[in-house]
Amino acid sequence: MPRFLSAQTDTRLITLPWSVPLADWPAESLVALPRGISRHVVRFVRVGREVYALKEVLEHLAIHEYRTLRDLTRLDTPSVEAQGVVTERYDSAGNPLDPILITRHLQFSLPYRSLFSRGVRQDTVNRLVDAMVVLLARLHLIGFLWGDVSLSNTLFRRDAGAFAAYLVDAETGELHDQLSDGQREHDLTIARTNLFGEFCDLEAGGLLDDALDPLVLVETIESRYRELWAELTGVEEFDGTEMHRIESRVRRLNALGFDVAELDITTDFDGSTIRIQPKVVDAGHHSRRLIRLTGLDTEENQARRLLNDLDSYRARTDQQNADEAIVAHQWLTDRFEPVVTMVPGDLRGKLEPAELYHEVLEHRWFLSEDAGKEIPVEEAASSYMREVLAKLPDEQIALASETTMLGLANPFDPSQGFADDDYVKPYDPWEDDASEEAAEEAPQAAAFLDIAALRNRKSKGDLPT
Ligand SMILES: Nc1ncnc2c1ncn2[C@@H]1O[C@H](COP(=O)(O)OP(=O)(O)OP(=O)(O)O)[C@@H](O)[C@H]1O
Ligand SMILES: [Mg+2]
Repeated sequence: MPRFLSAQTDTRLITLPWSVPLADWPAESLVALPRGISRHVVRFVRVGREVYALKEVLEHLAIHEYRTLRDLTRLDTPSVEAQGVVTERYDSAGNPLDPILITRHLQFSLPYRSLFSRGVRQDTVNRLVDAMVVLLARLHLIGFLWGDVSLSNTLFRRDAGAFAAYLVDAETGELHDQLSDGQREHDLTIARTNLFGEFCDLEAGGLLDDALDPLVLVETIESRYRELWAELTGVEEFDGTEMHRIESRVRRLNALGFDVAELDITTDFDGSTIRIQPKVVDAGHHSRRLIRLTGLDTEENQARRLLNDLDSYRARTDQQNADEAIVAHQWLTDRFEPVVTMVPGDLRGKLEPAELYHEVLEHRWFLSEDAGKEIPVEEAASSYMREVLAKLPDEQIALASETTMLGLANPFDPSQGFADDDYVKPYDPWEDDASEEAAEEAPQAAAFLDIAALRNRKSKGDLPT
């Protein structure tokens, strides 16, 4: 009998064919979903409505990764969630089999290869790179040494026009109280090597835009990381007449999506020089506020956008003094849910509800600009379903198999490549659509991790509050 190590076992997992090597599991237990390249055998299974990722791996590695992923989840870091480890597996002849690590499948996530296989614009690559940089800085802030930073070990989710990156492979990771500069440099060296290899690989496969150079990309990642780290942790010194700089620093950090838990402020004995060093914590202020108010669990940028909409709803309905939780409930039933339930059944798998609502708000803005007057949200929503959603690629798991897995030699193991070399990659209207907006989007996307630009904007006083 196999043994389950888990804080909370999903009992439906017990009946899976544990005595069969994972590579030979019958197709009826598996779901074909896009995934990254891996050394180990990885498969996805569906039990009830839940999808799990299974990885066959040596026992000490499986247990180490299980514990590390649990720690990362406890610390609220973006990573996949460990569900358990199955040990003491034997095949029908009594030979031992390697244990299996079980993680929850990260819904709506895309490995970078699926993103690139549809062809991506330069601007999209920049946003991916930013997401990766933020993930690495966040992990380092909590004292996590990754040890195997790579695109294959990262999953991406769309987040209100940007991307959010998640750690998927914690096999080599170590959690410390704090990382030394040397440890961070170690991760950066690994990142450089792995990412350079991965970008070259994409280039060789004709999947990288001609304008992009692997070496330049890797250097960009490194310099953005260093800038972000300096902004997050650097000591700033100024004289007593420049107190506003404390606030500017906090605002810049907020604009980068981080919260400041404490500011370590010291003055020299005559009070003329002030030193500040922020203690930055995990971002997520907006998503925590939104989940508290509405129960919607979203990415940070989506939450910010939805909260803006909630605030304008509040102003419009003249409820500034009403209880926030009550207004939020009204907004959810009057605004959010009607839009989400308008999606026809066959299009449900396309986008996650919060992303869909965000897209409808964007679409409405464009329509209103065109018309020179405000378009009602219901009207914008039906136009969006008709004109845009129906043409988008599917992101949800149930449908992913039909689109992204098309043409693979083995749909359960994308690492075996395409069955037919002449196979033409699926066309992605996301990219097509976006290219028209690229000109407008670019300054905003570039500004996200462009700390110099943030400093300038701050001096002009137009940072979000
Ligand atoms: N919980 C999950 N949700 C979604 N995708 C997942 C999940 N777990 C694994 N994957 C997919 O499977 C791929 C391989 O997983 P992982 O990186 O853990 O394997 P590995 O063999 O340890 O990799 P490496 O070769 O880097 O050691 C990932 O890139 C990801 O695409
Ligand atoms: Mg991996």
